[in-house]
Amino acid sequence: MYLITGATGSLGRRIVRQLREKEQPVRAFVRLSSHFNELEDRGAEIFIGDLKLEKDIIKACRDVKYIISCHGAGNDAQALDYRANIDLIDRAIAEGVEHFVFISVLGVDRGYQDSVTFKAKREVEKYLVSSGLNYTILRPSGFANNIIPLAERFRDTGIYFSLGEQQNRSSIVSTDDLAKIAIASTEIEGAKNQIFAVGGPDILKREDLPRIFARLFNREPITINPPLELFDGLRAGIGLINPQLNKSLGTLRTLLAHEFFCTRDEIARLESTFEIKMESLESFLRRYVGQ
Ligand SMILES: NC(=O)c1ccc[n+]([C@@H]2O[C@H](COP(=O)([O-])OP(=O)(O)OC[C@H]3O[C@@H](n4cnc5c(N)ncnc54)[C@H](OP(=O)(O)O)[C@@H]3O)[C@@H](O)[C@H]2O)c1
Repeated sequence: MYLITGATGSLGRRIVRQLREKEQPVRAFVRLSSHFNELEDRGAEIFIGDLKLEKDIIKACRDVKYIISCHGAGNDAQALDYRANIDLIDRAIAEGVEHFVFISVLGVDRGYQDSVTFKAKREVEKYLVSSGLNYTILRPSGFANNIIPLAERFRDTGIYFSLGEQQNRSSIVSTDDLAKIAIASTEIEGAKNQIFAVGGPDILKREDLPRIFARLFNREPITINPPLELFDGLRAGIGLINPQLNKSLGTLRTLLAHEFFCTRDEIARLESTFEIKMESLESFLRRYVGQ
């Protein structure tokens, strides 16, 4: 039995789908407020709970063989990115789980202090590595499904809106490929007790995105590119009214201000370990929103 946290999220949904296509037993950890019909229809066992509650984590982990932790945090990184994962690892040890897959983030080891999420994920990684469990840590770049709404807006208006430095590079990863790799991590010997950077095959500058959209939809882009200082100004204003939200915005600020791309060697290692050919962003978008 696989336990998938964040099973209704962009990545979690894909993992559940792919596992059910392979007819694997899946327990999907979901909140009552979430949309989980599709997961149930696909034959996943639905576990309703809240990852902020240790008692729910204890129940959800009963009799599971594999755990793939891919929940998000909203604006409570301390409780969800950190504490829930520590509790999941502790329960995995207690239950004798065979393999724990943790979705971290590319750049997690660079010591960004403005992001609670990055700090939490790094601490969870260290805890997992020293836990004695079999593990795989995946450090993905940004997910391709995040780009779908931008592509749809471009299709409808021709507008591409992007904050900050347009020369910044990333290796946007097909969320479908990442789901495949997360599952294969529990199956492939070479993935055991390893950390992988996970990205798409192309190193893209932000300014490459409107070019891809232009090819997909055959229209000229109108690019709106406010400087990062605008974000900083708005964030400072928000901080006066809502200090908690200001803190949460630290992760977005970190993502906007830095580069997150995989080296050619990292992609080659990924492709050879998992016997996969990573999909380009253009191909992913063509499948989801192409004309
Ligand atoms: N998105 C990216 O570009 C990116 C890049 C690198 C790493 N990551 C990491 O990859 C993982 C998956 O990201 P994603 O974009 O697929 O996430 P997502 O779409 O934002 O989904 C978050 C999931 O976490 C669940 N969740 C949140 N709070 C919960 C709680 N208290 N109890 C139970 N479930 C809760 C949500 O459930 P509801 O449906 O109930 O809200 C949802 O299923 C995350 O760990 C993220 O940090 C993401």
